[in-house]
This record gives sequence, structure tokens and C-alpha cells, in this order.
Amino acid sequence: MKESGDQMDSNRNELHELFLDELADIYNAEKQLTKALPRMAKAAQTPELRQAFETHLRETENQIKRLEQAAEALDESLKRKKCKAMEGLLAEGKEILEEQKGSSALDAGLIAAAQKVEHYEIATYGTLCRWAELMGHTEALNLLKQNLAEEKSTDEKLTQVAERTANVQAQS
Ligand SMILES: [Fe+2]
Repeated sequence: MKESGDQMDSNRNELHELFLDELADIYNAEKQLTKALPRMAKAAQTPELRQAFETHLRETENQIKRLEQAAEALDESLKRKKCKAMEGLLAEGKEILEEQKGSSALDAGLIAAAQKVEHYEIATYGTLCRWAELMGHTEALNLLKQNLAEEKSTDEKLTQVAERTANVQAQS
């Protein structure tokens, strides 16, 4: 079916609006995460895991800046939005932290919670990158790709810490 020019423009605007909504969602999600990571780092039993959380806190602060730059590059401002998914993921993480306090499985639990967060972010950035690509938002795409790469490498790092220390510790 052939679409009229007007129809195509309005489709693009709708995708652009959706893109901005998702951008606002992940922006708020990252901000929530910067508040939770210090607590998770403090609770971690091994220096490896503490360091992984501290490194990711610095990365997350940088990711927030990149999201602001992406919006700027599009001449848009980031909408205010509450990411309910991140709120839920972090609430569950807090529960694990409280329930596993003093347990040898605490680090394994913290990693499980953190990897759920990373996977949520990977899903969002993957979608945002694709949409940015489709709409030709090159500068935003470049910034979002950097965030996506950091989330993926954090996820891999957490798997390594789990394999090397946390899961072993949890079974002791
Ligand atoms: Fe992130």
C-alpha cells in the first residue's frame, strides 16, 4: 500500500514521540540506579563485586550525561517520567539485600538483582538504538550505542564475578 507523504510524516512523528518517551524512561531509570548502586556496593561482601558496582556507578553517571547530550543533539528536552520497571527491580534488589544479610549467598543475590537491571537497560538501549538509526538520529545513536556497550560489558563482568566468587561462596 502506498502511503501519502502526510501519512509518512505523521508515522515518523509518532515514532519520534515514542523515542522521546523511552529516552525519558531510561533517563529516570539511570538516575534511580545511581541512588541504589552505592547501597549495593556497600553491601557487597567481596572487593571484586564492590568494585564492579563502584565502576558501574561512575559509568552510570556518565550515561546520564550522554542521554542529556542525545536530547540536546535532537533539540529536545527530556520529559519527566518515572520508570516503574526500574523502581520495581530496585525494590526487589533491596528485598534480597535485607533478606540475605549475613548470608554467604548475599553476593550471588546482589548479582542476580543487578543483572536483571542490566538486562532491562540492554533491552531499552537496543530498541532506542534501532529507532535512532531508523530516524537518522546519528549523534544520538552514537551516544546510545556507547551506553548499550557499557551495559553489556557490565553484565558480562557480573557473570564473571558470579562464576569466580559469588556462586562458589554461596555454596559454601
Ligand atoms: Fe545504565
